Amino acid sequence: MLLTTQAKRPRRIVVLVSGAGSNLQALLDADLGGRVVLAASDRAGAGGLARAAAAGVDTAVVTPGDCPDRAAWDARLADVVGAAQPDLVVLAGFMRILGAQFPQRFPTLNVHPSLLPAFPGAHAVPEALAWGVKVTGCTVHFVDEQVDQGPIVAQEAVPVKPDDTPATLHARIQAVEHRLLPACVALACHDRLAIHGRHVKVLPGD
Ligand code: GRF
Repeated sequence: MLLTTQAKRPRRIVVLVSGAGSNLQALLDADLGGRVVLAASDRAGAGGLARAAAAGVDTAVVTPGDCPDRAAWDARLADVVGAAQPDLVVLAGFMRILGAQFPQRFPTLNVHPSLLPAFPGAHAVPEALAWGVKVTGCTVHFVDEQVDQGPIVAQEAVPVKPDDTPATLHARIQAVEHRLLPACVALACHDRLAIHGRHVKVLPGD
Protein backbone atom coordinates (compact mmCIF):
# COMPACT_ATOMS: atom_id res chain seq x y z
CA MET A 1 0.00 0.00 0.00
CA LEU A 2 1.24 3.44 0.65
CA LEU A 3 3.39 2.61 3.63
CA THR A 4 6.13 3.01 1.10
CA THR A 5 8.89 3.83 3.55
CA GLN A 6 11.51 1.15 3.92
CA ALA A 7 10.34 0.72 7.48
CA LYS A 8 11.22 -2.49 9.22
CA ARG A 9 8.41 -4.27 10.97
CA PRO A 10 6.77 -3.69 13.32
CA ARG A 11 5.29 -0.61 11.69
CA ARG A 12 4.99 2.45 13.86
CA ILE A 13 1.43 3.58 14.46
CA VAL A 14 0.27 6.86 16.00
CA VAL A 15 -3.35 6.98 17.20
CA LEU A 16 -5.25 10.24 17.67
CA VAL A 17 -8.13 10.20 20.15
CA SER A 18 -10.53 12.72 21.65
CA GLY A 19 -12.73 10.49 23.78
CA ALA A 20 -13.01 7.23 25.67
CA GLY A 21 -10.58 5.42 23.41
CA SER A 22 -12.36 2.09 23.06
CA ASN A 23 -11.08 1.84 19.47
CA LEU A 24 -7.57 2.64 20.67
CA GLN A 25 -7.96 -0.18 23.19
CA ALA A 26 -8.98 -2.54 20.40
CA LEU A 27 -5.81 -1.56 18.54
CA LEU A 28 -3.68 -2.03 21.64
CA ASP A 29 -5.16 -5.49 22.14
CA ALA A 30 -4.85 -6.65 18.53
CA ASP A 31 -2.07 -8.33 16.61
CA LEU A 32 -1.48 -5.64 13.99
CA GLY A 33 1.93 -6.31 12.52
CA GLY A 34 2.63 -2.89 13.96
CA ARG A 35 3.03 -1.17 17.27
CA VAL A 36 1.18 1.83 18.68
CA VAL A 37 4.05 4.15 19.60
CA LEU A 38 2.08 7.25 20.55
CA ALA A 39 -1.47 8.23 21.47
CA ALA A 40 -2.11 11.92 21.03
CA SER A 41 -5.19 13.95 21.84
CA ASP A 42 -6.64 17.42 21.55
CA ARG A 43 -8.10 16.96 25.06
CA ALA A 44 -6.07 16.46 28.23
CA GLY A 45 -8.91 14.46 29.80
CA ALA A 46 -9.46 12.03 26.95
CA GLY A 47 -9.95 8.54 28.35
CA GLY A 48 -7.87 7.13 25.54
CA LEU A 49 -4.76 8.72 27.02
CA ALA A 50 -5.17 6.74 30.23
CA ARG A 51 -5.64 3.54 28.23
CA ALA A 52 -2.43 4.25 26.33
CA ALA A 53 -0.49 5.05 29.47
CA ALA A 54 -1.73 1.84 31.10
CA ALA A 55 -0.37 -0.05 28.10
CA GLY A 56 3.00 1.68 28.39
CA VAL A 57 2.43 3.78 25.26
CA ASP A 58 3.67 7.36 25.11
CA THR A 59 1.01 10.06 25.18
CA ALA A 60 0.83 13.67 24.07
CA VAL A 61 -1.75 16.44 24.28
CA VAL A 62 -1.98 19.23 21.74
CA THR A 63 -4.80 21.52 22.82
CA PRO A 64 -6.06 24.18 20.43
CA GLY A 65 -6.39 26.55 23.38
CA ASP A 66 -2.64 26.38 23.92
CA CYS A 67 -1.94 27.50 20.36
CA PRO A 68 -2.27 31.06 19.07
CA ASP A 69 -4.30 30.06 16.04
CA ARG A 70 -5.51 27.19 13.91
CA ALA A 71 -2.39 27.07 11.77
CA ALA A 72 -0.19 26.85 14.86
CA TRP A 73 -2.26 23.94 16.20
CA ASP A 74 -1.99 22.15 12.86
CA ALA A 75 1.76 22.65 12.86
CA ARG A 76 2.24 21.60 16.47
CA LEU A 77 0.14 18.46 16.06
CA ALA A 78 2.04 17.53 12.91
CA ASP A 79 5.34 18.09 14.74
CA VAL A 80 4.31 15.90 17.67
CA VAL A 81 3.06 13.14 15.38
CA GLY A 82 6.07 13.46 13.07
CA ALA A 83 8.48 13.13 16.00
CA ALA A 84 7.08 9.63 16.59
CA GLN A 85 8.06 8.71 13.02
CA PRO A 86 4.82 6.94 12.19
CA ASP A 87 4.30 4.70 9.20
CA LEU A 88 0.56 5.08 9.75
CA VAL A 89 -1.71 7.43 11.71
CA VAL A 90 -5.13 6.23 12.90
CA LEU A 91 -7.93 8.59 13.87
CA ALA A 92 -9.85 6.64 16.51
CA GLY A 93 -12.57 8.99 17.65
CA PHE A 94 -10.55 12.12 16.95
CA MET A 95 -13.14 14.86 16.80
CA ARG A 96 -11.22 17.68 15.16
CA ILE A 97 -10.71 18.37 11.50
CA LEU A 98 -7.08 18.04 10.50
CA GLY A 99 -5.30 20.50 8.28
CA ALA A 100 -5.23 19.53 4.61
CA GLN A 101 -1.49 18.90 4.73
CA PHE A 102 -1.73 16.28 7.49
CA PRO A 103 -2.89 13.35 5.33
CA GLN A 104 -0.42 14.36 2.64
CA ARG A 105 2.39 13.96 5.15
CA PHE A 106 1.11 10.87 6.98
CA PRO A 107 -0.95 7.96 5.60
CA THR A 108 -4.01 8.25 7.82
CA LEU A 109 -7.00 5.98 8.49
CA ASN A 110 -10.26 7.04 10.16
CA VAL A 111 -13.14 5.05 11.62
CA HIS A 112 -16.59 6.57 11.23
CA PRO A 113 -19.88 5.32 12.72
CA SER A 114 -22.01 5.22 9.56
CA LEU A 115 -21.97 3.74 6.08
CA LEU A 116 -20.31 6.66 4.32
CA PRO A 117 -21.16 8.67 2.30
CA ALA A 118 -24.32 8.65 4.43
CA PHE A 119 -24.16 10.71 7.58
CA PRO A 120 -20.69 12.27 7.57
CA GLY A 121 -19.72 14.57 10.42
CA ALA A 122 -19.80 14.44 14.18
CA HIS A 123 -23.43 13.33 14.70
CA ALA A 124 -23.67 10.29 12.45
CA VAL A 125 -25.50 8.01 14.88
CA PRO A 126 -28.34 10.33 15.99
CA GLU A 127 -28.71 11.57 12.40
CA ALA A 128 -29.11 8.02 11.09
CA LEU A 129 -31.74 7.31 13.76
CA ALA A 130 -33.58 10.56 13.03
CA TRP A 131 -33.59 9.78 9.31
CA GLY A 132 -35.26 6.46 9.96
CA VAL A 133 -32.76 4.25 8.18
CA LYS A 134 -33.11 0.52 8.81
CA VAL A 135 -29.43 -0.22 8.35
CA THR A 136 -26.38 1.83 9.26
CA GLY A 137 -22.89 0.67 10.17
CA CYS A 138 -19.30 1.74 10.24
CA THR A 139 -16.66 2.70 7.72
CA VAL A 140 -12.87 2.63 7.80
CA HIS A 141 -11.40 4.96 5.21
CA PHE A 142 -8.25 6.78 4.28
CA VAL A 143 -8.27 10.44 5.22
CA ASP A 144 -7.95 13.04 2.51
CA GLU A 145 -8.39 16.80 2.61
CA GLN A 146 -12.19 16.51 2.85
CA VAL A 147 -14.07 15.44 5.97
CA ASP A 148 -15.17 11.77 5.94
CA GLN A 149 -14.70 11.49 2.19
CA GLY A 150 -11.46 9.62 1.59
CA PRO A 151 -11.18 6.22 -0.15
CA ILE A 152 -13.04 3.47 1.70
CA VAL A 153 -11.11 0.45 2.98
CA ALA A 154 -13.97 -1.49 4.58
CA GLN A 155 -17.55 -1.13 5.71
CA GLU A 156 -19.86 -3.29 7.74
CA ALA A 157 -23.60 -2.94 8.17
CA VAL A 158 -25.41 -2.76 11.52
CA PRO A 159 -29.22 -3.12 11.55
CA VAL A 160 -31.22 -0.42 13.35
CA LYS A 161 -33.72 -1.79 15.86
CA PRO A 162 -37.10 -0.13 16.36
CA ASP A 163 -36.38 0.70 19.99
CA ASP A 164 -32.80 1.89 19.46
CA THR A 165 -31.54 5.03 21.15
CA PRO A 166 -28.38 6.77 19.95
CA ALA A 167 -26.55 5.06 22.81
CA THR A 168 -27.75 1.51 22.08
CA LEU A 169 -27.15 1.86 18.36
CA HIS A 170 -23.72 3.41 18.84
CA ALA A 171 -22.75 0.59 21.21
CA ARG A 172 -23.56 -2.04 18.54
CA ILE A 173 -21.70 -0.02 15.89
CA GLN A 174 -18.69 0.26 18.16
CA ALA A 175 -18.62 -3.49 18.73
CA VAL A 176 -18.16 -3.82 14.96
CA GLU A 177 -15.61 -0.99 14.84
CA HIS A 178 -13.49 -2.79 17.41
CA ARG A 179 -13.09 -5.66 14.95
CA LEU A 180 -13.05 -3.79 11.64
CA LEU A 181 -10.53 -1.07 12.53
CA PRO A 182 -7.77 -3.41 13.78
CA ALA A 183 -8.33 -5.63 10.73
CA CYS A 184 -7.82 -2.65 8.40
CA VAL A 185 -4.80 -1.40 10.32
CA ALA A 186 -3.29 -4.88 10.10
CA LEU A 187 -3.83 -4.89 6.32
CA ALA A 188 -2.06 -1.53 6.09
CA CYS A 189 0.80 -2.74 8.27
CA HIS A 190 1.26 -5.73 5.97
CA ASP A 191 1.30 -3.52 2.85
CA ARG A 192 -1.93 -5.06 1.59
CA LEU A 193 -3.85 -1.87 0.77
CA ALA A 194 -3.45 -0.27 -2.65
CA ILE A 195 -5.23 2.99 -3.41
CA HIS A 196 -6.37 3.68 -6.97
CA GLY A 197 -8.25 6.95 -6.98
CA ARG A 198 -11.34 6.41 -4.84
CA HIS A 199 -10.86 2.65 -4.81
CA VAL A 200 -8.89 0.70 -2.24
CA LYS A 201 -7.85 -2.77 -3.32
CA VAL A 202 -7.00 -5.40 -0.73
CA LEU A 203 -3.97 -7.30 -1.97
CA PRO A 204 -3.55 -11.02 -1.29
CA GLY A 205 -1.48 -12.04 1.71
CA ASP A 206 1.70 -14.10 1.67
C1 GRF B 1 -16.32 5.85 17.44
O1 GRF B 1 -17.63 5.38 17.37
C2 GRF B 1 -15.89 6.39 16.11
O2 GRF B 1 -16.53 5.83 15.02
C3 GRF B 1 -16.26 7.84 16.20
O3 GRF B 1 -16.04 8.19 17.54
C4 GRF B 1 -16.20 7.05 18.36
C5 GRF B 1 -15.01 6.97 19.26
O4 GRF B 1 -15.17 6.05 20.29
N1 GRF B 1 -15.50 8.63 15.27
P1 GRF B 1 -13.93 5.62 21.20
O5 GRF B 1 -13.30 6.89 21.73
O6 GRF B 1 -12.99 4.84 20.33
O7 GRF B 1 -14.51 4.80 22.30
